[in-house]
Amino acid sequence: MSDLPRNITPALAEAMIKARRAIHENPELSHEERETSALVRRTLESAGITEIESVFDTGLVATIRGKGEGRTLALRADMDALPIEERRPDLAFHSKKHGVMHACGHDVHTSVLLGVALALQAERDKFAGTVRCVFQPAEEAEPLGAREIVKAGHMKGVEGIISLHVDPDIPAGQIGVRVGALMAGGQEFTIRVKGKSSHAARPHLGIDALATACAIVNELQKVRSRRTDPLEPVVVTIGRMQAGTAKNIIAESAVIEGTFRVLDENLRGEVARLIESIAQNVARANGAEAVFETLEGEPVLVNDEPLTELVRYAAADMLGAENVTHMRRPSMGSEDFAYYVRVVPGSMFRLGIRNEKAGMVHPLHHPEFAVDERAIPVGASVMLASARKFLDGGR
Ligand code: NI
Repeated sequence: MSDLPRNITPALAEAMIKARRAIHENPELSHEERETSALVRRTLESAGITEIESVFDTGLVATIRGKGEGRTLALRADMDALPIEERRPDLAFHSKKHGVMHACGHDVHTSVLLGVALALQAERDKFAGTVRCVFQPAEEAEPLGAREIVKAGHMKGVEGIISLHVDPDIPAGQIGVRVGALMAGGQEFTIRVKGKSSHAARPHLGIDALATACAIVNELQKVRSRRTDPLEPVVVTIGRMQAGTAKNIIAESAVIEGTFRVLDENLRGEVARLIESIAQNVARANGAEAVFETLEGEPVLVNDEPLTELVRYAAADMLGAENVTHMRRPSMGSEDFAYYVRVVPGSMFRLGIRNEKAGMVHPLHHPEFAVDERAIPVGASVMLASARKFLDGGR
């Protein structure tokens, strides 16, 4: 491979790409990352990294200690795949599992962190301090891995945490950084509408849960357009609705499922209250009842300024400043890395993987999603350079 960043050897780049292909070929859904976890453990152990703790079933936290006392840094990668059928028939390492695919690049994240761990292990007599490499399960599905790993106490004593996420909007060879909010806070909710069943020909004797649910969905469109500040980003999406049992029966019940996103944590409670109140009041107006249920969602991911500046400098040093873009806008997607960042100063950077010529342009979670593998040594280079800088006392 040509044009490697100067802190990445050809052997290391090759090892990471090999690991990535093995993981891509054998994707595992959230909470089922057994073989991925075993591959990571095997690779770490063969490099002499023996301080490895299991966490939340399939997760691993590997500790690499430098030659003396110093700072403690965590590096994190997520390992799970998605329930999507891969549509890249020409790919030599195409998913071998029907309906499961690494469509969010977590195979890249895992292999990059694996490479960084090997590099740090090889130079452990050259730095002071400790690095905790967190190989996290279940980023994509509840119960979320990040929340469990924080709960298990693995962030105790950690002074900073760095992670990356692939980005199909940024060309391979570049990265994106952003101080402040990078990803939205998300929250899932369910609204259960209770009506009363009756014959289709005698609707006045029943309470139509289906018609009520439609009215609720329509009215919820006004949360964003009429109830919250237009200068504050909010998304309310209803992704699923289910009602009724037969075409000639007034539906007795309906279920509405959705998610909302905010970029300001202070808005979370307000949006949840608005959704609940609209659901209940529209139901009442229709003679029905609505019950609102919600889960604790991912927090807003807010990148720490000094740590993000450290990553930016380290990246500019390795890749050239022209390959480090400032991301003007945050994403309304959400990411459970936010749980770590709530308790430890953290920074996530975006790793460019786009290659127009090769048709690697599809969005995350798309069946044709693909990665320009030149990004892998680039991601490892930035993570490694940032880790060295952090352990040297920079931040
Ligand atoms: Ni992801």
